[in-house]
Amino acid sequence: MGSETSVEAKGLTPLQDAFQFQFFRPILDLMLSQIQELATSLAPRLIEIRRHLHLHPELSGQEHQTSAYVAGVLSSCGLKVREGVGKTGVIGDLTGQETDPRRLAIRTDMDALPIQERTALEFASRNAGVMHACGHDIHTTVGLGTAMVLAELRSHLPGSVRFLFQPAEEIAQGAGWMIADGAIDGINAFLSVHVFPSIPAGSIAVRYGSLTAAADNLELTIIGESGHGARPHEAIDAIWIAAQVITTLQQAISRTHNPLRPVVLTVGQISGGRAPNVIADQVVMKGTVRSLHPETHARLPEWIEDIVAGICKPYGARYHLNYERGVPSVHNDPRLTQLLERSAQEALGVERVSVLPEPSLGAEDFALFLEHAPGSMFRLGVGRKGQVNHPLHHPQFEADESAILTGVVTMAYSAYNYWQQANEA
Ligand code: NI
Repeated sequence: MGSETSVEAKGLTPLQDAFQFQFFRPILDLMLSQIQELATSLAPRLIEIRRHLHLHPELSGQEHQTSAYVAGVLSSCGLKVREGVGKTGVIGDLTGQETDPRRLAIRTDMDALPIQERTALEFASRNAGVMHACGHDIHTTVGLGTAMVLAELRSHLPGSVRFLFQPAEEIAQGAGWMIADGAIDGINAFLSVHVFPSIPAGSIAVRYGSLTAAADNLELTIIGESGHGARPHEAIDAIWIAAQVITTLQQAISRTHNPLRPVVLTVGQISGGRAPNVIADQVVMKGTVRSLHPETHARLPEWIEDIVAGICKPYGARYHLNYERGVPSVHNDPRLTQLLERSAQEALGVERVSVLPEPSLGAEDFALFLEHAPGSMFRLGVGRKGQVNHPLHHPQFEADESAILTGVVTMAYSAYNYWQQANEA
């Protein structure tokens, strides 16, 4: 991507861009070197923490030992800790100078997956059938390392930071539990991180706009009227109507949705009918609906219902639509993404910071926090040089541990810069 495009994408003119950058650079370099020194001196402890977490993974909603361990580390660096927030979630509050009322939250997740680990690591999982195969052990360690670094520098923080250690991300429940428990009341911005094995350790990537997809579930029942297969005019054929619904939905996506805001609708299950010569009175369809843009996501249930209703009506069929909202899309805020990008560029060097060209159609419940305040999640490279890097959720997934320092420095420096950037608005 050319530099002109990226400046445009961030909504800044090149002049403003250069001015802002020069303006705060000299003061920050000093702080950056302190952050780097602190993080480096903590490295052995952080590796120890990560290996402990990796050895003892716990499933979504069952992170009892993990959260007790996290709470212990947070208390030891002087944070105010609350356990049992959102079931097994933990909150750590770091009070800054409070000359600025804006509060930043740093969110990491703690749960593991029901996978039998097949790595040869000396600290491979001791819990049979449970594995940190999505890197949440690295995320938790980055969160803790950032808390340790910023705790040392609290006299330089104009505002306060809340560390959110979230349970049950893999089942897309934990963020909702924490929100319901008041964990994010009064938070003005969120930062988060997810590992990425296809980016080499030492590098990170950001993305402006959508990072992950909204994933909803669809269950649609078409109700017709049974009849003799030879006398269709006396019946209402639910199978024929269902076929039209599926075909029309697929066609309507291409004709009524902005093609730059993709929608994927997959009917993955269908059942109906009783006998070859009996007209079906009922068809049940189940599917998943993925989308990236929040406006598109908001319109989907009504859009689908209008089409279904329009097809059913002339034939006298009825329908029952159960549209279940899953997690929305993670939509990264431009200013907070710029905060991460710039901070990482200064801390790691421009060549180690990239802008992701494409979002993922996976889902991530960090999105639920972003319904309350803006935020941004970056991808932390954990790829091991010269080795096969298995994907996330793979029984042989391994992360390069050196990425923890990259993550801590990026997160801590971005957090420090948060209030400076907020003042430029
Ligand atoms: Ni994950």
